[in-house]
This record gives sequence, structure tokens and C-alpha cells, in this order.
Amino acid sequence: MVNASPVQITVLRGRDDECRAVRSLLDGVTGGGGALLVHGEPGSGRSALVAHAHRYAEGCAVLAGAGLVEEAALPYAGLQRLLDPVLDRATALPSHQRHLLRRALDGDGCPADRQLALSMAVLGLLAAAARDRPLLATMDDVDRGDRQTAQVLAFVARRLRHLPIAVLLTADVTTTVDGIPALRLRPLNEGESVAVLTDRLPERPAAPVAAALAAICGGNPQALVDVAEVLSPGQGRGEEPLPTTPPADGALGRAYRARLDRLPPDTRRMLLLAALDEDGGTATLVRAAAAAGTAVEALAPAEVAGLVRVEPRGVRFPQPLARAMVAAIARANGCSP
Ligand SMILES: Nc1ncnc2c1ncn2[C@@H]1O[C@H](COP(=O)(O)OP(=O)(O)OP(=O)(O)O)[C@@H](O)[C@H]1O
Ligand SMILES: [Mg+2]
Repeated sequence: MVNASPVQITVLRGRDDECRAVRSLLDGVTGGGGALLVHGEPGSGRSALVAHAHRYAEGCAVLAGAGLVEEAALPYAGLQRLLDPVLDRATALPSHQRHLLRRALDGDGCPADRQLALSMAVLGLLAAAARDRPLLATMDDVDRGDRQTAQVLAFVARRLRHLPIAVLLTADVTTTVDGIPALRLRPLNEGESVAVLTDRLPERPAAPVAAALAAICGGNPQALVDVAEVLSPGQGRGEEPLPTTPPADGALGRAYRARLDRLPPDTRRMLLLAALDEDGGTATLVRAAAAAGTAVEALAPAEVAGLVRVEPRGVRFPQPLARAMVAAIARANGCSP
């Protein structure tokens, strides 16, 4: 089974409650399992919490999976990668379940009226994998992968009370899973943000510099990591001008670009305009949209994705950092307000 995580070991600043929730899920697992959904913005530290769970799960068998955009259109692809290390345990399943499971994981899908039996097969397989020692199954970014995997894992996650199995899922802020507890990652406060910066910089930044950088990062750990990576020693000492947004070509910028790429071209264009429009008023934006050959209504998919709210008085970005990142990407693409 897999223990590897792409996230390096990091001191998690400001996540004591979240780490405790993950540990208590694992502490109680022999007496009865459970599940937890951790959701947050891009870069908020979801994978880092999964890595924390993996490190804490000493003595457990670990199955680690992640939802991949590239495989989102392949039913059960996520489940296939997650379960591959324990497929030899499928001999413990009744033959009709074994057959359904093999068929789904081979890419031949599952008829609608056999979904329940397939979900029971996955639950049974995990129970068999947890026979010798408790099991932790994690699926990072469950919302990015195929929908069928997310549905089966949600089914399984609701049925762990009598099994020594813990399931940890992560997703974006708009995703919820009925019947399992969810934890939303809040932005780090200024002290925690400064601590993340200080951990990553060779020299402690001057206090006003640290405070200014913490402010532009909006408490997002990835933004802080990205800023620390590009900060010059002179900037750290307050002798050179500071960036006004996290870098558009850092990891967070790439995550936002990927998020934008998933939107229809019209929506993307409109979103870039809205992010660059400082006054946020409807009239200016309607004019800018018309000039660019689009319309404010094109923002609907971005609203569903939780990036903006279209209100009578204008377009609002609920997360200031999302606006800053979209604007930084727009400027890097050569757009002007
Ligand atoms: N609480 C924290 N304290 C210090 N560093 C952190 C904290 N949380 C995350 N990090 C670091 O910030 C970066 C982003 O974290 P992570 O990859 O876990 O975020 P994510 O929500 O999974 O992002 P993505 O949108 O890329 O999936 C990583 O380098 C991670 O080590
Ligand atoms: Mg992640």
C-alpha cells in the first residue's frame, strides 16, 4: 500500500484544530471508523493535512489516492488507482460483487441498477484490507476526479461505524458530501502567516515587510510559500519595493490558471475583466464586457465554481485573494482594464 505524498514535511502553522481532528479520526479507528471531508481554497493546505494523516497513521494500512482532472471523464479511474494495492483481497467478496468490481475497475462501467452492489463490493474490499490492521484511505481532491469514484467513496464513508477504517477526503469549498463531517480550512491569521514566511526565508523579514506580505497573501499557505520563493534579500529587509500580489507563475498562480482553464472561454474573459475592474460597478463592467464581445451573464459558471457573486450592485469576489490571483494572471496575459 502507498504511503507516499507529494507534499514535503512542513510544520503546519495555525492548523492545530484540523490536525487534532485528523488524529482523533485515527485514534478511535479500532473501536469504529469514520470519515472526514477537508475542504478549502486552492493552496489552503488540504494535501498537507492528508500528508499529516499519513504520517500519523503509523500502524495502519494506508491507501492513498487523488482525483485527477485528466481522468475525470473515466468512470472509476480514481477508485482503480486507490484500490489497486489491495485487489488481491477481492477473493473475500461474494462472486457477483467480485465480478462487478472487476468490470468497473477494468473500465467497463457499472449498470445503474448494480451501483449499490458495486458500492457494497468496495466497502467489502476495504473491510478485507482492514482485517489485519486498521486502514486509512485518503482521496485528495476527490472533486477533481471522476464522479463515479466520488459517489462510491461517499457511500463507503457513510458506513464505517462498525469497521476499523478511516476515510479522509479533500475537495474545493463548493463540495459537500451528505452524511460525513466537513472541515473548512480558514485563512491563516497574520501571526501564523508571518510564521510560514519566516520558516521559508533564510533571514527573518523586517516586521513591516512580513505584515505587508501576510496581507497580500490573504492567509493562504501556498501564496506565502510562493512569495517566500521569489522574495529578494533586499525586499526582505524592506529596501526594495514589495510585490503587490503573489506571483502569477507560482504554484498558486498555476492552480488558478487550471481553475480558469476549466471555465468556458467567455466566462474566463469576463472573469479577467471583472478582476481588473477596480470600481466593481455594474455599468463599467457592462461597457467593458460589450467592448470585449461578451456579457456579464457569461459569469454564471464562475459563480457556480464559487469564484464570484453577481449582485445587483456589481460583481463581488468572495475571496479577495481569488480576485488578486485572477487579476495577476490577467496582467501576465497582457490584459488591461
Ligand atoms: N498550515 C501550514 N503551515 C505551513 N505551510 C503550509 C501549511 N499548509 C500548507 N502549507 C504549505 O503550503 C503549500 C500548499 O499546501 P497544499 O499543497 O497542502 O495546499 P492544497 O490546498 O492541497 O493546494 P492545491 O490547490 O494545490 O491542491 C505546501 O507547500 C504546503 O507544505
Ligand atoms: Mg492539494
